Amino acid sequence: MAGKILLAGGAGYIGSHTYLALVAAGFEVIIFDNFVNSHPSVTERLAEINGAPVTCVTGDVRDSAALDRLFAQHDIAAVVHFAALKSVADSVKDPLGYLDNNLGGLVTLLAAMDRAGCRNLVFSSSATVYGIPDETPTPETAEHRAMNPYGRSKIMCEEVLEELAAADAGWAFGILRYFNPAGAHPSGLIGEDPKDVPNNLMPFVAKVAIGEIAQIKVFGNDYPTPDGTGVRDYIHVEDLARGHLLSLQSLLSTGQGHLVNLGTGKGQSVLDVIDAYSAACGQDLPFVFEARRPGDVPIYCAQTDLAKSVLGFETEKSLADMCESSWHWVTSQAHLTRP
Ligand code: NAD
Ligand code: UFG
Repeated sequence: MAGKILLAGGAGYIGSHTYLALVAAGFEVIIFDNFVNSHPSVTERLAEINGAPVTCVTGDVRDSAALDRLFAQHDIAAVVHFAALKSVADSVKDPLGYLDNNLGGLVTLLAAMDRAGCRNLVFSSSATVYGIPDETPTPETAEHRAMNPYGRSKIMCEEVLEELAAADAGWAFGILRYFNPAGAHPSGLIGEDPKDVPNNLMPFVAKVAIGEIAQIKVFGNDYPTPDGTGVRDYIHVEDLARGHLLSLQSLLSTGQGHLVNLGTGKGQSVLDVIDAYSAACGQDLPFVFEARRPGDVPIYCAQTDLAKSVLGFETEKSLADMCESSWHWVTSQAHLTRP
């Protein structure tokens, strides 16, 4: 296959699963990561899963010289750009830091790609760009209304990519707006590994299941949803990884960009998630209803037709698959060497 694929931020949760999907499809892949939110041992675990060494370069996407060296050493056909900070709460406390890392990182990376003549990039965007959408399931044409610096950094990044594509037809961008990624690889060797108490539902539920946290706090049971709790479009991280493969293949074969939602199109409530996780771990997980979390949307769900028509993307895995693989991952971690 002509040219290698660079995964910026490839040691993280979604990047590590995408690494496996790309290698399985025959791509030669390089991981570039500064490990600000991941651990170098991820590469050993990827090597164990694949039975083959992993090429990983430690570095920061804001470091032009490091990127120039990387592009000089390798023939890189395309980049998948995961490298970003993703905590909404931290972004509110440190908006400049988020702009520097997420927007500054993208601009520095694009400039290095331009110098190297590599003009294909898949970008990790988020459903967060829709804020509180008027329409659910939400189409890609919905207005941009991000409500925090993290979300706004994603909108700014998308705008940079759109302007660059308009200025020079040589660039091709796959902009992927993920809904709520969940689950883990069936090996139990890689998965979501939050450093602090998780803000997101699925990793929080996992911590309750393994007994690290006493009970789940359900934020709000008076939403206009079937059971009153918040509804989200949870997508298995392995389905998401396959979405990146399809996006890359489309960019490389057509030279045309695309902007699509990646979700299942199906909404699941907080209580649905607790039920599915309870079934996966074989115990009824304790929960308590609390007040709504400020800024939360009642329902988030993807319109999926465009990803299907442009990329042929459809999800294959269920909420039960997400919970079972998550449970396998969190129970396997006890046997691994942790940082
Ligand atoms: P993650 O934190 O697990 O992975 C991100 C990786 O990027 C980490 O390994 C981190 O060390 C690395 N990184 C961060 N800044 C870097 C820099 N300046 N230079 C080099 N490496 C850097 O997060 P994830 O869940 O895998 O998310 C990947 C991407 O998807 C992010 O852009 C995130 O904003 C986006 N996204 C995630 C979600 C989600 O819920 N997980 C939802 C929508 C969008
Ligand atoms: N929830 C709880 N208890 C918790 C955590 C969450 O009840 O301890 C509820 C929330 O109120 C919400 C649902 O579970 O109804 C999902 O919450 P998450 O925090 O897991 O996910 P969000 O959809 O709120 O947000 C996440 C990311 C955003 C991103 C969005 C869409 O944090 O940055 O997914 O990709 F924009």
